Amino acid sequence: MELLVVDFSSYGAVVAYSFYSFTVFFSLFSIILYLLRLTKPLCNCDTCRAYLHSTWASDFPNLCDWYTHLISNSPTATIHIHVLNNTITANPDNVEYMVKTNFDNFPKGKPFRSILGDLLGDGIFNVDGEGWRFQRKMASLELGSVSIRSFAFDIIASEIRTRLLPLLADKTTSGAVMDMQDVFRRFSFDNICRFSFGLDPGCLEMSLSDSNFAAAFDLATRLSAQRAMTPSPLVWKIKRAFNLGSEKDLSEAIKLVNTVAEEVIKQKRSRSRALPPDTQNDLLSRFMHSVDDDRYLRDIVVSFMLAGRDTVASVLTAFFHLIMINPHVEKRIRSESDRVLGSSSSEPATFEQMREMHYLQASIYETMRLLPPVQFDSKFVLTDDVLPDGTFVSKGTRVTYHPYAMGRMESIWGPDAMRFRPERWLQSDGVFKPANPFKYPVFHAGPRICLGKELAVMTSKSVALALIRRFSFRAAEPGKRAVFAPGLTTTFRGGLPVRISERTVPW
Ligand code: HEM
Repeated sequence: MELLVVDFSSYGAVVAYSFYSFTVFFSLFSIILYLLRLTKPLCNCDTCRAYLHSTWASDFPNLCDWYTHLISNSPTATIHIHVLNNTITANPDNVEYMVKTNFDNFPKGKPFRSILGDLLGDGIFNVDGEGWRFQRKMASLELGSVSIRSFAFDIIASEIRTRLLPLLADKTTSGAVMDMQDVFRRFSFDNICRFSFGLDPGCLEMSLSDSNFAAAFDLATRLSAQRAMTPSPLVWKIKRAFNLGSEKDLSEAIKLVNTVAEEVIKQKRSRSRALPPDTQNDLLSRFMHSVDDDRYLRDIVVSFMLAGRDTVASVLTAFFHLIMINPHVEKRIRSESDRVLGSSSSEPATFEQMREMHYLQASIYETMRLLPPVQFDSKFVLTDDVLPDGTFVSKGTRVTYHPYAMGRMESIWGPDAMRFRPERWLQSDGVFKPANPFKYPVFHAGPRICLGKELAVMTSKSVALALIRRFSFRAAEPGKRAVFAPGLTTTFRGGLPVRISERTVPW
């Protein structure tokens, strides 16, 4: 038998050797994939088969709709997807137990850290323990202060007045179809950068040309989220090790995200040298006073970009989607604003006036009930535990609470759970009444409750009001169902195309 002798001195041999190695690795990879397919379906239950073969997709437009269906048929409102080792619950008692009562036993955990680690690093969304406590404390000092409220309100008002309204007004004359999801993402990105980092990327001003960064950020969040959907982490870890397929795309997208985050830090450093310290009251400046490590600062920047951009854009997109289907809600918001602001006023609402608009607030909460920006949120059990509904969860199990399913449960919201009805949030005197956070965990609940909740609600109300008072919106593709793109936050596949016209009301 002849031995294959490779002469490394020749270029051709190196090429042949590379090809040979690639073939071996690729074959190995295929075998592992094949074995995974063979071993995982050890659970042959209907649900696991439907998950693995995606047959649910013939009956439901989205995975979250299928989960909602399964959960609503479960007597405990809890299901288990065996092949994912994922217990998914819409039971408020379970939610309270995992995010508050037994908080320490339900951390983000190692699997979550490794799924999102490449994108989020040690940012607040991806850490437990000391790292989390430190960032939480710093961020709550900033986001919880009273002075920050007016700082944020001024930024939002100026972004609406000087960029958003002129941009849309321009589209009314051209009659063009506009993707409102794209507009809201640009708007939210400008806002969060101005607010968190004291820098203005001017995304809404850039004549709406495509932003490489935005595309890279979207791709990075989508592909990171997809990792969590593979039956075994081995699949994406092997792909990552050999820089193949979606993992190659992810690593390139993250490189671009890193470049932008590093640029944010660099610009911030050079500006802070030029400005007096008392004028630097943004979140990044606060962190920079206590953190030297640029890698850690990068992780903090990326987490806040994710927190502020995608979530707020998501609620605004969902709001306009629902308003166009329910014009009577839009009408009621207008009459409430006429009462508070005066029907002929073209002045923007003040902070105090905004607080008086209970129906508007109810409409935003109702939007997030049916279309929450974060559809589900997972933790990993530290030691064996039993949830209040009697479900046993062993160490290492992924436990997910599901705000999307919870918002649709008749057991929580009554027989009209599927109706968009902002009135359900109002007391008999018309005053907005918040829901129990464990029944409505749209902003999480307990010690890790969202720190940007007030800011997000105020931003959404301000934008919704300013646009509704000035323009009318018509769906460019009426009757289209909401289909979501996979990702960390709710994103409409195909965006939200609308036609905009200036209202003919004299003000
Ligand atoms: C409608 C908009 C928003 C929604 C629905 C929302 C929802 C959430 C949810 C579900 C979590 C928990 C995530 C987790 O388990 O890691 C969270 C955490 C957080 N949110 Fe928000 N968020 C919104 C807007 C914002 C904004 C605008 C900011 C910041 C300016 C922000 C800052 C944060 C931070 C810092 C955390 C981490 C809290 C912690 O881990 O202790 N959020 N948010």
